[in-house]
Amino acid sequence: MQVNKTFKVLRRGARAWAVAGALGAAAGMAQAAGVTLTISCGSVGQDFEFCKKAADEWSAKTGNTVKHLSIPQSTTDILGLFRQMFAARSTDLDVLTVDVVWPGLLKDHLLDLGPYTHGAEKEHFPAIVKNNTVNGRLLAMPWFTDAGVLYYRKDLLAKYGEKPPTTWAEMGSVAARVMAGERKAGRADMQGFVFQGKAYEGLSCNALEWVASHRGGSIIDAGGKITIDNPGAVKALSTAAGWIGSISPTGVLNYGEEDARGVFQNGNAVFMRNWPYAWSLSQGADSPVKGKVGVMALPHGEDGSSAATLGGWQLAVNRYSTHPAESADLVMYLTSRTQQKDRAVRGSYNPTIESLYKDPDVLAANPFYGDLYDTFVHAVPRPATVTGAKYNEVSAAFWNATHDVLAGKLPADEAVRKLEDKLNSVRRGPNW
Ligand code: GLC
Repeated sequence: MQVNKTFKVLRRGARAWAVAGALGAAAGMAQAAGVTLTISCGSVGQDFEFCKKAADEWSAKTGNTVKHLSIPQSTTDILGLFRQMFAARSTDLDVLTVDVVWPGLLKDHLLDLGPYTHGAEKEHFPAIVKNNTVNGRLLAMPWFTDAGVLYYRKDLLAKYGEKPPTTWAEMGSVAARVMAGERKAGRADMQGFVFQGKAYEGLSCNALEWVASHRGGSIIDAGGKITIDNPGAVKALSTAAGWIGSISPTGVLNYGEEDARGVFQNGNAVFMRNWPYAWSLSQGADSPVKGKVGVMALPHGEDGSSAATLGGWQLAVNRYSTHPAESADLVMYLTSRTQQKDRAVRGSYNPTIESLYKDPDVLAANPFYGDLYDTFVHAVPRPATVTGAKYNEVSAAFWNATHDVLAGKLPADEAVRKLEDKLNSVRRGPNW
């Protein structure tokens, strides 16, 4: 089932790619000067629109042409597509989007950008630059960073005299109360809490937040030790299982980012866990919840503290690209300060350039950047650096175990015990 699905996505990707190729060839004939590059821009929210506009600006400036490879929404599916292309040493994609957890997985296939940056990476958060540097090679330039946040309906909380919750238990009871009241008043579709519950990387991000905020650690610690079989993790996962079919619809077990945003932005959920990109869309002229949304740090367990998973995207150059210099130039243009400011102001994409968090325009467009700055800076990394090439297997084991608990197939204590065994079998030695 899973195999078939992945296969379909890959085929779909390959077709889009072929179409983009044909269009690009036509454009190339019209334009004698310059080279033609292909980039994968992303397809969540406004990803494509923003990236295309900036790539067009670069084309106009340089005389080169940029084609677009359309990619799936799920980072897990994108990784499958890119791995297939890299296995074939394909030259068809020049510039690609790289999830923050991928440098260790893709390290052999990305160009060292060091010779092209002229030190520009020094402006970016050092932790992200370090994450993107493997064996002294800068494999990707930071583009935007991500951290999980809680969106809530200010108007509904005020209507029921409730305050924004700080613990998961409070969130559960506020969600249940507001949802019941709204349903009684005729809003039958109202949900309490929506998040990313599908069996994919996004669920690993959500579940890591539940676990870490219950003092349950981060699956594998920085030294490579597997830590997931612990009481905090059990409590976290069983609490989340209790949401399904009560404050969260059972359909959440198949939700990605955009599914959750669709429900929340249509006015049908009290709370949503998502990334910052959902803010600007929720405040768009056509958004039914414009002016009614608050953003805060995620709740925590009774004796824990709030945890946000560190996400984010980089831009990299395919090592097999036939136009490395032009590709690197496009990467530097798209990740520049000017572009990051525009993306933050109009699209609430969190910059990776630290000083932009003090920019008045950026702060005015994203009022929560001030309060949540610490949350962003101290976001919890997934165990990608320590597990390197094994990360996707580790994460898949974690999201599958979590999905089983949410779906009521396994109790949380048994799930984490089995997960710990599974991770031990994935690991080759102390260094993974
Ligand atoms: C966001 C994050 C990325 C994460 C993904 C999971 O795109 O930026 O790091 O892997 O969500 O769905």
